[in-house]
Amino acid sequence: MASRPILVVAGVGTGAGTGGSAARLFSKAGYRVALIARNASSLQTFAASLNESGGDAHPFPISSYTHGSIHEAFTAIKQHWSGGSDKAEIRAALWNAGPGVFKPFLSITEEEVKDTVDTNVIGGFAFARESILSFKENGLDAKGKRGTLLFTGATASLRGNVLTSAFAAGKWGIRALSQSLAKEFGKENIHVAHAIIDGGILTGRAKDSRDPAWVENEDVRLNPDNIAEAYLYLVNQDRSAWTWELDLRPAHEKW
Ligand SMILES: NC(=O)c1ccc[n+]([C@@H]2O[C@H](COP(=O)([O-])OP(=O)(O)OC[C@H]3O[C@@H](n4cnc5c(N)ncnc54)[C@H](OP(=O)(O)O)[C@@H]3O)[C@@H](O)[C@H]2O)c1
Repeated sequence: MASRPILVVAGVGTGAGTGGSAARLFSKAGYRVALIARNASSLQTFAASLNESGGDAHPFPISSYTHGSIHEAFTAIKQHWSGGSDKAEIRAALWNAGPGVFKPFLSITEEEVKDTVDTNVIGGFAFARESILSFKENGLDAKGKRGTLLFTGATASLRGNVLTSAFAAGKWGIRALSQSLAKEFGKENIHVAHAIIDGGILTGRAKDSRDPAWVENEDVRLNPDNIAEAYLYLVNQDRSAWTWELDLRPAHEKW
């Protein structure tokens, strides 16, 4: 039975950031794309744009990144593609949601800490669980793997800083989770990889809010389309040479 793989992306926003770029690139590469985000109408618009370009994308909106809602989204994803003539398998999953609180430590409220940790860590755990359970249903593909689980990290995954106490706690948590999973599930031919995005990303939001000199200077910011290329490279790695972690930064980043 022919099988057209599914990529699940959580944290797509309006489609103008890393999640959107990954969805577009994987769609062009022949993946069905399951889109998870909180804003149903922008998600619907983004899915339609992928489908107009010949893709097979579908929105799975959730109200928040909880265990329950992520479980329901995965159930809906499997049901959505269950009736076709070919076998629909979730082969790649990207945890891209990553809200940040950028404030001095003593100004951060309990609510903000809870929101950051709930989405970054608890949500990431839930997404990883559903992805791994899905991959375990798959046989080995041509690269010798059952599936690839990717996490989008940040500079704060490695280094705390003066305004990042809450954000760094969440990002370090996700990095630690990804390394633990890479070790636990490698022996089941499930590839887990983490990407440290060490610099500012040219998202739709950044285009509207940042200094035009930064927006126009390709040396100082990351293009999300190029991050997506790195994600496709990770997914296509053969089991004899897997990356757990890579870091990506623009040429002039002062790291
Ligand atoms: N932007 C940067 O300069 C930068 C730099 C380094 C690393 N990163 C990381 O890159 C990843 C992708 O981000 P992106 O900037 O390219 O934008 P993006 O692809 O548009 O995705 C970011 C997602 O975070 C999600 N999110 C979940 N809960 C949130 C909350 N309470 N508040 C705000 N957002 C929330 C949003 O989810 P919904 O889809 O549900 O709205 C949003 O789509 C994130 O993990 C981020 O930490 C970003």
